[in-house]
Amino acid sequence: MLIDTHCHISEDDYDDIDLVIKENINSGVDKMIVSGCEEKTIYEVIELSKKYNSIYITIGYHPDQVNFVDDKMLNKLELLLKTPKVVGIGEIGLDYHYGKENRDAQINLFRKQMKIAEKYHLPVVIHSRDATKDTISVLKEFPSVVGDIHCFSGSMETAKIYISLGYKIGIGGVVTFKNSNLYKVVEAIGVSSILLETDAPYLAPVPFRGKLNSSKYLPYIAKKVADTLNISFDEVAKVTSINAKSLFDLKSIL
Ligand code: NI
Repeated sequence: MLIDTHCHISEDDYDDIDLVIKENINSGVDKMIVSGCEEKTIYEVIELSKKYNSIYITIGYHPDQVNFVDDKMLNKLELLLKTPKVVGIGEIGLDYHYGKENRDAQINLFRKQMKIAEKYHLPVVIHSRDATKDTISVLKEFPSVVGDIHCFSGSMETAKIYISLGYKIGIGGVVTFKNSNLYKVVEAIGVSSILLETDAPYLAPVPFRGKLNSSKYLPYIAKKVADTLNISFDEVAKVTSINAKSLFDLKSIL
């Protein structure tokens, strides 16, 4: 059994969601944690979680939503956290890839959502792109909050800082890319700190790079992790599932 700890499933990307879920389960991925991170997809994933046993969800506002999110929407988010099968808040964080002009507003939105996570004892799914330093300093303000550094692609040193703060490292399709050194991070941190994810529909692993991604490709990521660590596929599946269940407190519902 594999758990895809971070993916997106929206009618905007897939014509036949029933078929996608069926294919995912048939490939050995029987649980998916689907993230709704803008107003529309938050409601969409809540509906998905009601319809499919295999789907759990995280909800929260992505940093690219910073100009649209107001306090009323954050209050509503708080209420929606009580929805069954919401297992965390995210993806939230900081993204300076396209510029830093709204840095303060991004940090403000990130902090507000970290505060909500702290209040409800929920784990967070962190999106951090070109923003490592600020991300770490915000996470340090909330020492009781733990979570997943989703789609990690930084250095070994950075990974170790996140782990020391109680976070797990989300490893996705990038680890299979020929030009990526992410396998070195995997080697350094070991399977006990890893969560597997696809971030579908983005970042399909090799040999599907550039194509529409879905959780059915998660085994390719698990295999790369197993080969890198020289352990069996089953061991990777077992340990990463334990990691996911304990972080997202899935044990009571799985
Ligand atoms: Ni994502």
